[in-house]
Amino acid sequence: MYNLAVIPGDGTGFEVTREALKVLNAVAAKKGFKYQTHDYDFGAARFLRTGETLPDGAVEELRGYDAIFLGAVGHPDVKPGILEKGILLKLRFELDQYINLRPVKLYPGVDCPLKDKGPKDIDFVIIRENTEGLYSGSGGFLYKGTPNEVAIQEMIDTRHGVERCIRYAFELVRNRGRKKLLLCAKTNVLTFCHDLWWRAFEEVGKEYPDVTREYAHVDATCMWMVKNPEWFDVIVTENMFGDIITDLAAMIQGGLGVAAGGNINPKGTSMFEPMGGSAPKYQGKNVINPLAAIGAMAMLLRQIGEEAAARSVEAAIAATTPKMKSMSAGRMGFSTTEVGDLVCNALE
Ligand code: IPM
Ligand code: MN
Repeated sequence: MYNLAVIPGDGTGFEVTREALKVLNAVAAKKGFKYQTHDYDFGAARFLRTGETLPDGAVEELRGYDAIFLGAVGHPDVKPGILEKGILLKLRFELDQYINLRPVKLYPGVDCPLKDKGPKDIDFVIIRENTEGLYSGSGGFLYKGTPNEVAIQEMIDTRHGVERCIRYAFELVRNRGRKKLLLCAKTNVLTFCHDLWWRAFEEVGKEYPDVTREYAHVDATCMWMVKNPEWFDVIVTENMFGDIITDLAAMIQGGLGVAAGGNINPKGTSMFEPMGGSAPKYQGKNVINPLAAIGAMAMLLRQIGEEAAARSVEAAIAATTPKMKSMSAGRMGFSTTEVGDLVCNALE
C-alpha cells in the first residue's frame, strides 16, 4: 500500500492533477497495486486566505509519504517568488530532493520545432542539481534603494552536493544503451564553482570506466540541443543552467504540455510535477494538456518501484499523442479530460 501526498496547487494544476490521478487509478487496477492519496491545499488560495505558504509541520508530514505529486503553483495575485520559494523550493530543499530529473522525449506524432528531427533524434535525460548553486538563497543588499546599492547573489556549490549528483548521473547512464554522460557547465568563466564540478566529474568518472565522459559549455549545449539533439544521452548540470536548458529541452520535445519532471531524493521522499506552470488564463476551461502531469505520474511510479506500471503509462502516452492535433492548450482536438481518458483506454 503506497501513501501518496497530492498538492494540486493553483490554476490548471487541479485539472492536470485530476487526469494524472485518473490514470494512476486505472493503472493500479491493471497492475494490481494499492495506494491511498491525501490532498493538501497548499498554494495561492491558502496563502491569500491565511498568509502562509506551508503551515508548521507540513514538511515533517510530507516526509512520511512514499512520494508527492504536485500540480502547479503560481497565481497572478501573489507576488512572484512567494509561492515558488515558500512551497516548491522549500520542499526541494527541506526534503533534500537533490536531483531534478527531466526526461526529454519526443513522443510519436508530436510536432517538433526542429527541422527534420523526429522521435529517434530526441530522447535524452537532463539531470539538474536541485539544491545548490545560485538557488541556495545566499546573498543580500547593501545600501538598498540608494544610488550606491549593491546586490549580491552567491553561487554555492559543495563537493558533497556536486558529487552525489554526479554519482546519480553515472548510475543512471549505466542503465541506458549509449553509456555517455555529458557535463554541462562553464568552466572557462566560473573558475571556482565549475572547477569543482569538473574535478568531481573526472574523479567520480574513473569509477565508471564503461561510461564515456563528455563536456560542453552551457552556451554550446544550447546550440547543440537545437542543431544536433541526437548527440545527447544524459546531461548532468548545475541548478541554474539546468533550469534554463530544461525549458529549451521542453520546447524541442513538444512544449510544456508534455514536459514532466521529478525532484528526487533517492533515499527519501521525492516529488513529481508537470513542468508547465499554473496557466491561469486556461483555468477551468478543460483545455490544458494533461500529458506532462501524466508523464510525471509515470515517473512517480518508477520511483516507488512500480516499473511495469510506469512503462505502461508511458506506452499509453505514446499511443495517445498520434491521435492529438497539437500539444498546446485549446488546440489538442480533445479536452483535458478526454486526453486523460485516451491514456486510460490505451493502458495495457
Ligand atoms: C522549475 C521552475 C522553478 C525553478 C521556479 C518555479 C522556482 O522554473 O522547476 O524549473 O526555477 O526551479
Ligand atoms: Mn524552470
